[in-house]
Amino acid sequence: VSRLATLLHEYLDGTDMTTSTAGTDTQVVVRVNLDSRSYGIWIGSDWLQGFGRIIRGVDSKSPNAMVFTSPRIGALHYERFERSLSNAGFTKIAKYEIPDGEEHKTTGEWTKGSTAIADNFPDTDIKPVVFNLGGGIVGDVGGFVAGTFWRNGLRYVQVPTTLLACVDCSVGGKVGVNLGNVKNQLGLFYQPHLVLVDVAFLDTLEDAEMRSGAAEVVKYGVACAEDVFDLLESHAEELLHRDRSVLQQLVKRCCEIKADIVRRDERDLTGERMLLNFGHTIGHAIETASNFAFRHGEAVAIGMLGATRMAVELGRCDQTLYDRLLTMVQRLGLQTTASNLDVEHVLTAMARDKKFVDGTNCFVLPTRLGLAKLEHNVPTGVVRRIVESCLS
Ligand code: GLY
Repeated sequence: VSRLATLLHEYLDGTDMTTSTAGTDTQVVVRVNLDSRSYGIWIGSDWLQGFGRIIRGVDSKSPNAMVFTSPRIGALHYERFERSLSNAGFTKIAKYEIPDGEEHKTTGEWTKGSTAIADNFPDTDIKPVVFNLGGGIVGDVGGFVAGTFWRNGLRYVQVPTTLLACVDCSVGGKVGVNLGNVKNQLGLFYQPHLVLVDVAFLDTLEDAEMRSGAAEVVKYGVACAEDVFDLLESHAEELLHRDRSVLQQLVKRCCEIKADIVRRDERDLTGERMLLNFGHTIGHAIETASNFAFRHGEAVAIGMLGATRMAVELGRCDQTLYDRLLTMVQRLGLQTTASNLDVEHVLTAMARDKKFVDGTNCFVLPTRLGLAKLEHNVPTGVVRRIVESCLS
């Protein structure tokens, strides 16, 4: 009995990872430990048919499911996903498709998504569970709808279908929309109740989107954990070719790292979670200034190179780190500069970064592989020179 109690305790609270089986495959479960807001990230390969059993744990009673997806992802995966919900006992399942593209991460889509819930589930007694089947935009908008509905929010499950969403957006509860051209200006911290990762979804991902997601894996390797960078150096091509075992290993490691950071700094208050913004100060500005012609990870790759050049120039890390990062970015087929963008546009967009305080940006700078620190008050001349180098 005591052994059973220990195992149960470890599963629910104590450890970050365990394994389980659903269907015929084995999944790894990374726990995000946040007291009553704790949840599991289930990571497996080709196990969509096994989702049902796990999903029921989120709400054992509601017959209602609201699925947010996008036209592209919906066409590829919705039918099978809906079947897994039926198998889990959901009898009324509604779908709303958020159009593909960052330009649709808007208050307009938040209103439409919320209206879809109100129209499909008018009985306020039986609240639906929300499922976000898609990439970062679906997860962010759907999570924001779930978090704002009926003030206390609805339970929601992230089912990421892009590499970026698997390793970053679907974990940690940052949900929201852009306001005009400013990324994520409206939003909440609202943790999901479950995250289900099936790396087989990535088979249908465009190559460019896969490369963009890989940039976020690089981010973890440089700013948080050397072993992730080492794994990438040994397996970058397998990752791009969607080798299932490499994908599972890297997604698991990134989720473990993020779970740990979110546990310690859930609401971005101590600066620790901010480290996950490595490459994002310049990256977000490139996305905005290019009117989102650059994908998130494509812009972040250029931003990481800029931040690392800055770190070298300020004597925070040595050139070897920059050289390894550059080689990795090139191996992943990502651009190393964003030519054709206007430096003033990028600097203006940077001034809207959430880390912009007292007239200067705060940067996340690597100090050695796997470690980074926040740097305040970088001289504006240095910032301008670095941004120029990112655009040449
Ligand atoms: N994507 C950065 C964070 O979740 O904090």
